[in-house]
Amino acid sequence: MRIAILGGDGFVGWPTALHLSELGHDIHIIDNLSRRRIDTELGVQSLTPMDSIQERCRIWHDETGRRIHFHLLDLAAEYERLKQWLAEQRPDAVIHFAEQRAAPYSMKTDRHKVYTVDNNTSATHNLLAALVETGIDAHLVHLGTMGVYGYSSVGAPIPEGYLDVQIDTPGGPRPQQILYPTRPGSVYHMTKSLDQIMFQFYAQNDGLRITDLHQGIVWGTHTDQTRRHEQLINRFDYDGDYGTVLNRFLIQAAIGHPLTVHGTGGQTRAFIHIQDSVRCIELALADAPKAGERVRIFNQMTETHRIRDLAEMVARLTGARIAWLPNPRKEAEENDLIVKNDQFLALGLQPTTLAEGLLSEVVDVARKYAHRIDRARVPAVSAWTRDLAKRIEHDPEGKRLRSVS
Ligand SMILES: NC(=O)c1ccc[n+]([C@@H]2O[C@H](COP(=O)([O-])OP(=O)(O)OC[C@H]3O[C@@H](n4cnc5c(N)ncnc54)[C@H](O)[C@@H]3O)[C@@H](O)[C@H]2O)c1
Repeated sequence: MRIAILGGDGFVGWPTALHLSELGHDIHIIDNLSRRRIDTELGVQSLTPMDSIQERCRIWHDETGRRIHFHLLDLAAEYERLKQWLAEQRPDAVIHFAEQRAAPYSMKTDRHKVYTVDNNTSATHNLLAALVETGIDAHLVHLGTMGVYGYSSVGAPIPEGYLDVQIDTPGGPRPQQILYPTRPGSVYHMTKSLDQIMFQFYAQNDGLRITDLHQGIVWGTHTDQTRRHEQLINRFDYDGDYGTVLNRFLIQAAIGHPLTVHGTGGQTRAFIHIQDSVRCIELALADAPKAGERVRIFNQMTETHRIRDLAEMVARLTGARIAWLPNPRKEAEENDLIVKNDQFLALGLQPTTLAEGLLSEVVDVARKYAHRIDRARVPAVSAWTRDLAKRIEHDPEGKRLRSVS
């Protein structure tokens, strides 16, 4: 298949491009490199040394003889170029990763809120409108997030996208399936909730074939392909805005920084290893909906964990201390999370568990590149509200620390 990978220079997009290229697909990455510009804005860099996207594609060609094509294009701002590209290349599938994906970055200031909404909703809508206009029957696979469901404790498993409800009508109760109600916890999650509505409309109105993958927090760095050459290495974000919780614990352990747990650590989250993430995308591609079908939604996660349990697990493995800090996010202190992921398991996914993979990540990646870490960038300092901003701990290693255990 000819596959367009939108956002293919990113953390999940790059290993997906390699994985699908290895399987023999004709891969075209489209990216505006905004993520690299945001690194410059924040004064941070990937833990792992990342080459330019052109250089990465060159090394992949040298290693395998396979070509990955790169196109510099802003999905949100260059509608006409996007449409022209689609009309010329006519991809069989489009995988859409190209959004601003950090909840803390989306809450930093009003400017970051506006940017995140403009970028994400325009990118998604431009793509949908261009697919309709060019008449391309490509399967669109979008990376959404488990976060659209919100993190309250409902006490029942979260289904894969749709909820069975009974509507009271004058003729008695009628069963219906509706999109699971969203409860976004940040501006970023709000844009992913808006994406869902756009997908619902375009599937129903224009017969677009769409799969929306509600992904958990991705952890790990390497996949089988990124291991093949030092210059194919994946990015690894550790800073307070883009670093995801488990990867942050790993680098904190590697540099002797306390593991930063916000609030009680009673937040439960869903996780998936990067290797499983790329495999899920392969599985979803092979199982495309037909035109006229409703959007297919998968929960792309393999385990759920409470944050304090994760911190304790990493502390046990590495001897790290835990720092309990005020929470910059406005969220429930404690929540349960039970998630259904039957569809991917039925398609043959064999999950990598935390218990198997954690230690090698600490040793092979976090310790190896520890010299590249700027400790000043580790604290999470973007607050959800002005009141929460007053309580933020800017110096988790310093004297004002509440408690360390
Ligand atoms: N990383 C996770 O833990 C995680 C979890 C759940 C869902 N997701 C979703 O998966 C997708 C990929 O996440 P990631 O971690 O690889 O993010 P990332 O920021 O590393 O990659 C996103 C890529 O998209 C590009 N991009 C952004 N806006 C663009 C635009 N307007 N035009 C062209 N390119 C644009 C960026 O330059 C970047 O290379 C995101 O949509 C994210 O919401 C990620």
